[in-house]
Amino acid sequence: MNPFWEAALRPVMDAVQPHCVIEVGAAAGGLTAKLLDWAAAHDATVHAIDPCPALDVTAWRAEHRGRFVFHKARSLNVLGRVQGVDVAWIDGDHNYYTVVHELRLLERAALRADHPPPVIGLHDVDWPYGSRDLYYDPDSVPPAHRLPYERKGILPGEGELSHAGFNDHLCNAIHDHSAHNGVCAAIDDFIAKSDLRWQLHRIPGLHGLGVLVSDDRLAASPRLGPVLRSFGSARFLRRWCGDIELARVRAEIAVAVGERELTNARVHVHEFEVAHRESERVLVDRLERGRAARDALGAEIERLQHRLALAADTEAQLRRDLVAARAQLADAECERLVAPKADAASTNGSNPPRSGVGAS
Ligand SMILES: C[S@@+](CC[C@H](N)C(=O)[O-])C[C@H]1O[C@@H](n2cnc3c(N)ncnc32)[C@H](O)[C@@H]1O
Repeated sequence: MNPFWEAALRPVMDAVQPHCVIEVGAAAGGLTAKLLDWAAAHDATVHAIDPCPALDVTAWRAEHRGRFVFHKARSLNVLGRVQGVDVAWIDGDHNYYTVVHELRLLERAALRADHPPPVIGLHDVDWPYGSRDLYYDPDSVPPAHRLPYERKGILPGEGELSHAGFNDHLCNAIHDHSAHNGVCAAIDDFIAKSDLRWQLHRIPGLHGLGVLVSDDRLAASPRLGPVLRSFGSARFLRRWCGDIELARVRAEIAVAVGERELTNARVHVHEFEVAHRESERVLVDRLERGRAARDALGAEIERLQHRLALAADTEAQLRRDLVAARAQLADAECERLVAPKADAASTNGSNPPRSGVGAS
């Protein structure tokens, strides 16, 4: 919706001079920032709604204190509660159920407060979501109001979803152009069932913008009618073609920058893989050398244990030999002590000794 700012959104804001603006689907805040700049210059308040914002809500609240109200919620839980909305920009969950209820909630809240209904701008009234439901969070839509969907892409001119199409990361209805399917069906049914008279002004390209306005709002904001009627003029459309071309060129540049970053990232990945393989090789090498050293040490330990066992056997044998030698020595010593006395007794003719060594 952001690319429509200069050509359409700002002229609508200038014509309406809103005190209260609502944005559904803030995402990274591309449009929110522009709305806040406008609000700062015109003393207005901006309500932004998104269940999964990609902006730093705390920082934004601090920077735009008193002017910025952020609702981290789904649109259907918020829209009925905000009073006095003059302009609403809807670029959230592009499916029939959500959009038709967003429109009804905005209308009812205005009627309850006796306030002119807001001007309501809706992105994605052209291909692909003009006639095909998208579900950011399929569970947020009651099953009875949810069409069969797949997380697959959309190709221009093709009814069937494809693996390589537009928004292939999102849940898209598997068929288009059926009843209660897409943003345009929601707008048509809303207008048909409303008690008020609404007009729809469309700007083609960049997925299309629809601007809904009621007779009451046109009466309350007299500068608005000419702005909306100008959307169909040759002058406006010629200028709008320039804006679309600019958006196309910016998209081409973004693709080229993205491709270069991808190439650089691939080179880094390759370098990382080479370095990783090299350090893996070094580590495996170290591991193998460690294992070989461990095995060699194991063998050495076994050899030493064997030698230790042999040494222990030898020591035991030596101890036994020592004991035997000591016994022999003791016997020899006894004999040596006993023999001279016996010799002496036989020489003296006396009796052998009655006690002591050899008496028994
Ligand atoms: C296409 S992006 C909006 C882009 C934004 N308007 C811009 O111009 O930069 C759609 C956003 O709608 C939000 N969204 C999805 N379902 C929603 C819901 N039920 N209510 C409010 N926001 C919703 C998503 O989280 C996403 O951030």
